Amino acid sequence: MPKPKILVSRKLPEAVEAELARNFDVTLNVDDVPMDRAAFRAALKAYDGLLVTVTDGLGADVFSGLTPRCRILANFGVGFSHIDTEAAKAAGIEVTNTPDVLSDCTADLAMTLLMAAARRAGEGERELRAGRWSGWRPTHMIGTKVTGKTLGIIGFGRIGQAMARRAHFGFGMRILVQNRSDVAAEVLAETRAEQVASVEDLLPACDFVSLHCPGGAGNRHLIGEARLAMMRPSAILVNTARGEVVDEAALAAALKDGTIAGAGLDVFEKEPEITPALLECENAVLLPHLGSATRETRERMGMRAVDNLQKFFAGDVPPDRVT
Ligand code: DGY
Repeated sequence: MPKPKILVSRKLPEAVEAELARNFDVTLNVDDVPMDRAAFRAALKAYDGLLVTVTDGLGADVFSGLTPRCRILANFGVGFSHIDTEAAKAAGIEVTNTPDVLSDCTADLAMTLLMAAARRAGEGERELRAGRWSGWRPTHMIGTKVTGKTLGIIGFGRIGQAMARRAHFGFGMRILVQNRSDVAAEVLAETRAEQVASVEDLLPACDFVSLHCPGGAGNRHLIGEARLAMMRPSAILVNTARGEVVDEAALAAALKDGTIAGAGLDVFEKEPEITPALLECENAVLLPHLGSATRETRERMGMRAVDNLQKFFAGDVPPDRVT
């Protein structure tokens, strides 16, 4: 039997590409040039499966009017708001993702942003590299203490829980969580978290707020002008979830006028474009979507996507099927 024909949309870690080549008739993207809508439409007609990433805009228009050969989109990543899963399903295409394997590294990066924003690490580094540091002084670049403060977590899936463990057991923080559904009592007990009823209950009670909810239309601008105004003026917002969850223009205004004290962002509304006003905010720490960017995690994400493809083409239900 011929091997399934798979197209990979971006350059992947070497070990993952080698594993794909062993198992499939694979076309790799060696130049790592992002594919456009026309290229995806052609690929959906020519391949049995596509291995895609967060940079691939697979909205309903990409699937419309097509009779695809493709039957599976194996997403390299846990978030899949860049794929219109309903449109994919209507076209007869299953979608999988790569949960679990990136929870630790994404939570590590959320903690990095929280610490960097609290202790003004970005500002300090910029000052030093620019030759503007005049030396130690008691009132220089004063930040805010992290240990013992209250952290609010919005979205309490695997990454939110990993964040809670770091913050509570590492920094003695009190953890409040808001989640769409009730969190199991054992999970709350293990992470030492308390669930609150709503985002409105959470925001005013926290020194730090970290977003770990899914992206997509349902959570678009979950944090906008009104909710930023509910946060403490001393509070810091961290987003490692999806850019669309935060209204970037409203956040830049809130950072400028002192509505909140700082932000740490790894994801943006129109990546790789950044709202220019945000770039002017010294109190924002901005990273280029590095949440899962460690060698170990990127390899495990790739292997997990390969596993989903293998199971699917063996006639099994892929373990990480989302639709
Ligand atoms: C994820 O896994 O969702 C990362 O943000 C990369 O897509």
